[in-house]
Amino acid sequence: MQLLSQLSSTACWSSHFLLTCWLLIMILTSGMVWSLQFPVGTSSVRSAFSATRTSSVVGGKQRAVTFNKLMVNIGRDFNPDSGHFRCRIPGAYYFSFSVGKFPKKLLSVILVKNGEEVQAMAYDDYRRVGRKVQSQSVLISLKEMDTVWLLIQQNPKYALYSNTGPYITFSGYLVYPESQPTSYISNHLSPPAPSQPRCPPQTEQPQSAFSVARTSTFLGQSGRHQDRPPLTFDVEYVNIGSHFNKTTGLFTCRFPGVYFFAFTVGKHPRKALSVKLMTGGGQVQAMVFDEDTSKRREMQSQSLMLPLSRGDRVWLYSQQDERYAIYSNQGRYTTFSGFLVYPGAEGAPNGQDRSHL
Ligand SMILES: *[C@@H]1O[C@H](CO)[C@@H](O)[C@H](O)[C@H]1NC(C)=O
Repeated sequence: MQLLSQLSSTACWSSHFLLTCWLLIMILTSGMVWSLQFPVGTSSVRSAFSATRTSSVVGGKQRAVTFNKLMVNIGRDFNPDSGHFRCRIPGAYYFSFSVGKFPKKLLSVILVKNGEEVQAMAYDDYRRVGRKVQSQSVLISLKEMDTVWLLIQQNPKYALYSNTGPYITFSGYLVYPESQPTSYISNHLSPPAPSQPRCPPQTEQPQSAFSVARTSTFLGQSGRHQDRPPLTFDVEYVNIGSHFNKTTGLFTCRFPGVYFFAFTVGKHPRKALSVKLMTGGGQVQAMVFDEDTSKRREMQSQSLMLPLSRGDRVWLYSQQDERYAIYSNQGRYTTFSGFLVYPGAEGAPNGQDRSHL
């Protein structure tokens, strides 16, 4: 925009460029008219943001991670200057974030809801020179006015690294609005909507979503299992439809369609890490791996979409061998989330052998 207006003002000085100037003004104004024509109506049941930060943060200077670049802010529910996302539409939201580790500093970032409730964190206690990025994601349920942000430790031993190549990112979006909306605040900037009767959804879309975490370490044990037992969980953030059983660690598909899955696992000191996203009879669909058995603690993340049929099962398997482990504690480093993106049986590419699912 800035470049365009600069171009247009420069071009206006020369009569040669009158046509160019006129065209640019037409483009600019038509763009504005277009955006004014659809100010809030389309955002009333949409909410999504994605922001990046292109400078480092040292612990102790600020509590919330703030952002200087806003890529997406549908519904304007995210404030990059405060780093706060404020819920306008109650429902289930997926959040994901990545943070850079500052050389010789510790890394610890917690996704918090209303400043108190600890949801999930990214960490790295490896105080070496190297820079790297750690990620975390979770699906949580929000009420109107709930606030979600990233909390950084109030201590200069901790820092987040970023530079012009942004290491620090934060995204979130509404996956499922609450099925019986009472009153939406349509937009912070718009006048309150007159009491129009809200149209109930034409057809109730099937909903399926889960997000779970583990608060304890899992240690592999040699020679105990021939099969690949699921990793189990003890914290349930969201379980819409109850399709995930945290006691067994199994997700069972009830609505055919395309599902998104994401998981993050902590690396245990002195142990290697090998965690696989499994389906059906034991097929590996995606995995994370780290065979460094130093005393480092850090995290690995992975995500994938899968077409599922009714009855298909999905789980995480951690290598059953005493060289391997997953680290977690009350910080809930280890998380597993999944949700139905598009219902319908047409998810599988043509000709793909799906008998294995
Ligand atoms: C989870 O699975 C276990 C073992 O099959 C079963 O006993 C339990 O009832 C299930 N939990 C739920 C909530 O369905």
